[in-house]
Amino acid sequence: MEFKNIKFEVIGNICTITMSRPKALNALNRSALEELDQALDLIGKDKNLHLLVITGEGKAFVAGADIVEMSDMTTAEAASFSKFGADVFRRIEKLEMPVIAAVNGFALGGGCELAMCCDIRVASEKAKFGQPETGLGITPGFSGTQRLARLVGPGKAKELLFSCRVIDGREAERIGLVNQAVQHEVLMETVYGLAQEILGKGQIAVRYCKEAVNRGYETDMDTAMDIEKNLFALCFATEDQKEGMTAFTEKRKAEFKTR
Ligand code: CAA
Repeated sequence: MEFKNIKFEVIGNICTITMSRPKALNALNRSALEELDQALDLIGKDKNLHLLVITGEGKAFVAGADIVEMSDMTTAEAASFSKFGADVFRRIEKLEMPVIAAVNGFALGGGCELAMCCDIRVASEKAKFGQPETGLGITPGFSGTQRLARLVGPGKAKELLFSCRVIDGREAERIGLVNQAVQHEVLMETVYGLAQEILGKGQIAVRYCKEAVNRGYETDMDTAMDIEKNLFALCFATEDQKEGMTAFTEKRKAEFKTR
């Protein structure tokens, strides 16, 4: 498939999507969101893929939703754009495999929102995070108010939303917006190192962990415990569970087959 706004690359079990619209610092217009959506279709169909990395080309991860495209939207068009973007990001959040955001630069507005729908965020210490929407007279539209509050707490989220303050990777790490900030030069090797660490584990179990955390986080504790119990039990129907435990008793490295 030919993409104009993203780069889609598969190496081994890892797919990397690079947001690539350099003339607008990778800003998300409708067409870029559509391509992201189509890329998710491709990923869902490829059984050999076990992990997705999302990053950006040049000095930006994503500098937000496209302000030029949004500038003359009607209320109905804004609602449709917001719903579409939020749905694509929700698909990323719900993708069975782990998704790591490698935040290389500006992650503003829709860019911060894209990073937040990923499971794990590793940032360059040079990255810049913020929700500048109120400075444009709008609110975030791709679920930023919701995920930011869940990640850093409502007080800090409101401070960032009300003030449009931009913070760097280290500050984002300090407030829990990203898992880790690293020197810019080692960002991608850190991300792929983490990816390999994850790929060395039982991938069905990894996916069930993602599902348990995501679904459990959105419900009450008793229901969440039930979700975990069911997924734990399902692991015992897999070859990976047999292999993982046999390898432990035989004091060797497990060879998982994702079955
Ligand atoms: N939409 C459209 N174009 C954008 C853009 C965006 N979000 N961000 C940058 N660009 C364009 C600029 O207009 C510029 O284009 P021209 O060369 O044609 O003038 C080009 O990208 C390069 O940008 P700058 O010259 O501004 O680069 P800089 O290094 O001086 O500044 C920046 C970088 C601080 C990120 C600045 O570009 C900026 O503030 N961008 C907007 C950030 C923003 O407000 N994002 C939130 C958008 S609203 C949103 O995302 C809502 C939502 O949740 C749905």
